[in-house]
Amino acid sequence: MKAFIETFLNSFAVSPSTMRFENKAIIVTGAGSGIGREIALSFGREGGKVTVSDIIVESAEKVAGEIKSAGGEAIAVKTDVANDSEVEEMVKKTLDEFGSVDVLVNNAAWWPVKYFVQQTQEECDKKIKIIY
Ligand SMILES: NC(=O)c1ccc[n+]([C@@H]2O[C@H](COP(=O)([O-])OP(=O)(O)OC[C@H]3O[C@@H](n4cnc5c(N)ncnc54)[C@H](O)[C@@H]3O)[C@@H](O)[C@H]2O)c1
Repeated sequence: MKAFIETFLNSFAVSPSTMRFENKAIIVTGAGSGIGREIALSFGREGGKVTVSDIIVESAEKVAGEIKSAGGEAIAVKTDVANDSEVEEMVKKTLDEFGSVDVLVNNAAWWPVKYFVQQTQEECDKKIKIIY
């Protein structure tokens, strides 16, 4: 029982970097804050070349800067994931910079902070376009 508990608890432990994503190119959308930021930083620590993409370019630049300050590789790209041409440009910049797209994390999301029945048609349409 003790061994089981130790194994269970260790599964949550933050392990030292093992560079598992060395030479891999990773796009993370909505990476300027929250969960996306942590995902981008984690890929950076693991040796990944990270495209930090967000609709708020200043946030993306800050996170890309953090990855580079820690010795990693990253670019910041302003992208509204609901805008097809901006998404195409994000992929193009990644290919130009890193030569491939090996991992895509579709993290960006938006939703109005109100009950579903109170949401307007425009808000529902925007939410669906961003998330799906
Ligand atoms: N936080 C939670 O408890 C939770 C729970 C379950 C699932 N999730 C999912 O995890 C993901 C991240 O959640 P979070 O809490 O970190 O969100 P967040 O709101 O903190 O961050 C979302 C990021 O996406 C960016 N963004 C918003 N609209 C965008 C757009 N159109 N194009 C590009 N970027 C855009 C924002 O600028 C922001 O940096 C979401 O997909 C969310 O649905 C979160």
